[in-house]
Amino acid sequence: NVVDKGNHRHFMLKEIYEQPDALSHTVSHYVDLAKGKVKLPADLPFDFAKLNRLTISACGTAYYAGLVAKYWFEKYARLPVEVDVASEFRYREPPMDKDGLALFISQSGETADTLAALRYCKAQGQHIASIVNAQESTIARESDIVFPILCGPEISVASTKATTAQMSVLASLAIAAGRQRGTISEAEEFELVDMLAKLPGAITKALASEKKIDQISHELSKASDVLYLGRGSLFPIALEGALKLKEITYIHAEGYASGELKHGPIALIDETLPVVVVAPSDPLFDKTISNMHEVAARGGKIILITDEAGAKSAGDDVHEIIIVPNAHAFVMPIICAIPVQLLAYYTAVFMGTDVDQPRNLAKSVTVE
Ligand code: AGP
Repeated sequence: NVVDKGNHRHFMLKEIYEQPDALSHTVSHYVDLAKGKVKLPADLPFDFAKLNRLTISACGTAYYAGLVAKYWFEKYARLPVEVDVASEFRYREPPMDKDGLALFISQSGETADTLAALRYCKAQGQHIASIVNAQESTIARESDIVFPILCGPEISVASTKATTAQMSVLASLAIAAGRQRGTISEAEEFELVDMLAKLPGAITKALASEKKIDQISHELSKASDVLYLGRGSLFPIALEGALKLKEITYIHAEGYASGELKHGPIALIDETLPVVVVAPSDPLFDKTISNMHEVAARGGKIILITDEAGAKSAGDDVHEIIIVPNAHAFVMPIICAIPVQLLAYYTAVFMGTDVDQPRNLAKSVTVE
């Protein structure tokens, strides 16, 4: 089957728009909506209840999906998680307890560093699980168990639907881990599964900000640097936003944990620096507001990605607001991935770069 762009100008936009359907497909594979439970394969070769640690390795965007998952597994399953980029992990010679679980995330299933990390973990006696899109791939073949991403072929070099689908698989696994470890109740599982079931609708709503984002992107395209900030499970989405922008617009961008602002990046702030703050309203939102004061006081232009409640309490410091639908904090990283994708996409289109085939990049990095 030859994949074409349909009515879309680029594969990237087509894939961004495929996310409600792709996620609905992925989620329905992993959760039983009628029962409000996660479905786990009967032949699961490990038991989350017996694990002391989960080790996740991946590269690029897949690594950021792993970073989000760390927040989920630690919060809902009380399972310590180590996440590292595969290129570092593979040479660190990390000690590993026997019978641990090592999880690899890869769209292509062929990323050289991720595969090398997998082989290291296998030699260390770990159970090997992978989350891959290409089910015929080497990483899939060498795994004890494969959790398919099921988002369909992704052609654009900048990953979009594979990332959000990876996060949906990881969210399902975190719930399953919580159940096996007895750290979430049936009612909590039901509630979290319901959040996953509602994701496709929430993503459709998030996509409705497209026009506003297109306008904002005209201004963003004039910047030579952009700072992305996020806290908690939204911190990896700040990293993801910066990566997407770099990849397809060649504008220098950095993602930081909001709380790190005073520890360095605040020195960069002046009126030429747009600061994208990914911050839906949550119990720590006040801290984000104080970060935004610090940015605004130095002339930094804030583009805030938040929900309606966040928009109401954000105050006058904000230059532009992109609204995402209200949702449980659990699924916010997946929802907030949409505006950061669109922001990078429209900025690239406005600048006229090659969106689907950005310079120097390959879809699958099969050599070191
Ligand atoms: C994402 O936009 C990138 N092109 C890149 O970071 C990618 O996620 C990374 O190379 C990992 O690829 P994989 O998922 O195929 O292993």
